[in-house]
Amino acid sequence: MHPTLNIAIKAARKAGDIILRYHNQIELLTIENKAANDFVSEVDKAAEDAIIDELKYAFPNHSILGEENGEILGNSQFQWIVDPLDGTTNYLHGFPQYSVSIALYENNEATHAVVYDPFKEEMFTASRGQGAYLNEQRIRTTNTYGLKDTLIGTGFPFKVPQHLDAYLAMFKAIHPKVAGIRRAGSAALDLAYLAAGRMDGFWEIELNIWDIAGGALLVKEAGGFIGDFSGRDKYLETGNVVAGNEQVFKAILKTIHPHLTKDLQQ
Ligand code: IPD
Ligand code: CA
Ligand code: CA
Repeated sequence: MHPTLNIAIKAARKAGDIILRYHNQIELLTIENKAANDFVSEVDKAAEDAIIDELKYAFPNHSILGEENGEILGNSQFQWIVDPLDGTTNYLHGFPQYSVSIALYENNEATHAVVYDPFKEEMFTASRGQGAYLNEQRIRTTNTYGLKDTLIGTGFPFKVPQHLDAYLAMFKAIHPKVAGIRRAGSAALDLAYLAAGRMDGFWEIELNIWDIAGGALLVKEAGGFIGDFSGRDKYLETGNVVAGNEQVFKAILKTIHPHLTKDLQQ
């Protein structure tokens, strides 16, 4: 295993320990509203601080972009992207589906990624060109053809309600073609599940870069495809994501295409 990935794993475990320490005492936490339907607790912040300490200790010159602390400037060739707790709403309700996501981008290319579910002790990892792993076992996307019989992940656009009508039109188009659609509540974990072959496809509108940065490398290293709504690679910028094995990726893009508003073309 690459030593850089090892550091990211160590950082994710430290964050996971903090998350688990409080998961049975959620009523003790102070919860703030960052924006409508966007919550943050001191666990999110403490988990991010622990990750930053670990990364800074190992790589004092690297840049770090974290959801809670924003950008810590350093050598911009090495950019860590951190979501210390993806699935905060689940966490605050004791619904055990959340994760820590840590990714390194070198010259804007993802090189290492960790998505860790501390509750289920599932560590999803990938390094560029080295494949994707779940607890050190190789994982791969499914090889289903088209949408028939597939299980598709998604997220509701609850933070961007202006896209709700377009989203519901996409949902209506996809729903009759597939076996099931799941909204599990942690986009990073959704992409990790896709990489592990637990789902066949995924789409969501306007995610943040820290929701996607780690999961994207997992999907690619597991043999899958990820893109924006035009199928190209602007997804980290627009936050609009379609992912799947090659056939499911293409089929989702084709199915949602007629329902894309002007703002959602990429
Ligand atoms: C959220 C989760 C969720 C997605 C939201 C994200 P957070 O992240 O990834 O699945 O639907 O758009 O904001 O706020 O829990 O880190
Ligand atoms: Ca997130
Ligand atoms: Ca978060």
